[in-house]
Amino acid sequence: MRDQYGRPLRDLRISLTDRCNLRCVYCMPAGGIAFRPPAELLQDHEILLLTRIAAELGVCKVRLTGGEPTVRPGLVDLVRGIAAIPGIRDVALTTNGVRLRELAGPLAQAGLRRVNVSLDTLDPEQFRRITRGGRLQDVLDGIRAAEEAGLRPVKLNTVVVRGFNEDAVVPLAALTLDRPWEVRFIEMMPFGEVADFAEGQVVRTEETLRRVEDAFGPLEPLDLSGEEPARTYRIRGAAGTLGFISPISEPFCSKCGRLRLTADGKLRLCLLRDDEEDLLTPLRRGASYEELREIFRAAAYRRPFGHALAERLIPRRRVMIQIGG
Ligand code: 5AD
Ligand code: SF4
Repeated sequence: MRDQYGRPLRDLRISLTDRCNLRCVYCMPAGGIAFRPPAELLQDHEILLLTRIAAELGVCKVRLTGGEPTVRPGLVDLVRGIAAIPGIRDVALTTNGVRLRELAGPLAQAGLRRVNVSLDTLDPEQFRRITRGGRLQDVLDGIRAAEEAGLRPVKLNTVVVRGFNEDAVVPLAALTLDRPWEVRFIEMMPFGEVADFAEGQVVRTEETLRRVEDAFGPLEPLDLSGEEPARTYRIRGAAGTLGFISPISEPFCSKCGRLRLTADGKLRLCLLRDDEEDLLTPLRRGASYEELREIFRAAAYRRPFGHALAERLIPRRRVMIQIGG
């Protein structure tokens, strides 16, 4: 399956819930959001059906996101079901890590391959501020559990936010000196009610990279091809690697092959645009497998080329917690 610009579509990100046990400042507005009633969210069997369709159309990688995917009941069984779909070769999870202490083992046994854990700082007080109340130790325990369960390589996602965690960049990068992890620094993206905050406090990759090089010396480039969203480097002699994800300063839209299924059953065609195709309604009206497959394929084909943040077109319909990254 390709889109109208010829980009192969191999990667499906499935949001399992719009809820979360943290409330990060860049993800959720201060006043919270109205959660969808559970009846308006995709049920497990509906997710499995849509994933089967995606796999038939050529998707081979699935990433589960949220909100926070580990707060969804029945996650382990759902992972088992997805991993068993013919054609799906890789199932990964993006999580805040809080519940991994209990879930890493069962998830690995169910067929999960890898996790990306969000971690913006190593300072407990700063962590509490950026997540509006979270406990850092839960995440650190979760990361250890993931490693022990074999969910490797561990990748950590850090959104750099001015006035919150710029000074965490160097300590986080230092984790890679003796751990085989990939620490990835992400430019904050604007969505809905969080857009003004995101635009005001964004820290660009250039600045983050400079901070890291000032502390550790020139980085060794590993993959700057742009085939993956992260451009990767290594601190000289380090066990792990660093990634820089720059949706704002260096958009990677031309290489993007991602589709997103929201928890409320919409196929989102670009992270940073409001264009969506409703799959839930035809599914619940009894559309046939072939009809759904055609709706899916046609929507995927008309994916927009990329974002238009430079022209001040900001996605308004959802904030990140309702998309999942
Ligand atoms: N900009 C960039 N990244 C974000 N994330 C959440 N909100 C934003 C934003 N506004 C990241 C989280 C998590 C992933 C799902 O997306 O840190 O790692
Ligand atoms: Fe929750 Fe992740 Fe959003 Fe933070 S970034 S509020 S942990 S969904």
